[in-house]
Amino acid sequence: MQERILVWDWPTRVFHWSFALSFAGAYLTAESERYRDIHLALGYIFAGLLVFRVIWGFIGTSYARFSSFSFKPNAVLSYLQSLPKGQAQHFLGHNPAGAVAIFLLLGLGLLISFSGIVLDRELASTNWEDLLAETHEWSANLMLFVVFAHIAGVLISSYLHRENLAKSMLTGFKQGQPQVAISRSFLWLSLVMLLAILVFLVTYLS
Ligand code: HEM
Repeated sequence: MQERILVWDWPTRVFHWSFALSFAGAYLTAESERYRDIHLALGYIFAGLLVFRVIWGFIGTSYARFSSFSFKPNAVLSYLQSLPKGQAQHFLGHNPAGAVAIFLLLGLGLLISFSGIVLDRELASTNWEDLLAETHEWSANLMLFVVFAHIAGVLISSYLHRENLAKSMLTGFKQGQPQVAISRSFLWLSLVMLLAILVFLVTYLS
C-alpha cells in the first residue's frame, strides 16, 4: 500500500533551498565591486551550509545519509542505460544518476568555498593567488553547468516516474510504503539553521 510518507527531513530541505539560493546569489554578484559584501556574505553562508551537509550526511535521517546514495559505478551505468528503455528503477531517496550530480555539487561547492575563503582572508602567498582565483571562477562555472544537468535530471525523473520531485524537496513527502518513512523531521534544527543564517547576514552586512 502506497501512502504519503516523509522522506526528506527539514534540515535537508532547508539546506537544499538555502544552498541553491546562496549559490545563485553569489554567482550573480561575483563580478560586481558594488555587491562584493553580498557576494562574500552569501559565499560564507554557502560554505557553512556545506559543512552542515557533510556532517548531516553521516548523522542525519536515513535518506539524507551519504551511505544511502553511494552507488557503485555499475549501478549508475545500469540506471542510465535503463532510462531510454523506459524501465528506470524507482528510488525513494536519490537515484544513482542524481547521486553523482549531488556528489559533484558538494565537491565543487567545497572547492569554491575553500578557494574563496583563502582568497578573502588573504591566507595564500601572492604566487598562489592567481591559481586560486582561477580555480574559484572555473569551479563556479562548472558548478553552474552541473546545476543545469541536475535540474534536467530532476525534470526527467519526475516525468518518468510521474512524481513531482521538486515538490517533494519542498514538502518532504513522497508516495511510498509507510514502514520506510523517516520517523523524525528535525524541524527545530532547521529553525536553528535559518536563525543562524539570518543573524550572520545581519551582522555581516551591518
Ligand atoms: C529550480 C531549481 C532546483 C530544483 C527544482 C531542484 C530540485 C531538487 C530535487 C527534487 C532534489 C532531490 C532529488 C532526488 O529526489 O533525488 C534535489 C537535490 C539536491 N539539489 Fe537541487 N534543485 C534545484 C536547484 C539546485 C541548485 C541551484 C543546487 C546547488 C547549488 C542544488 C543542489 C542540490 C543538492 C546538493 C541536492 C541533494 C540534497 C541533499 O541530499 O542534501 N539544487 N534538488
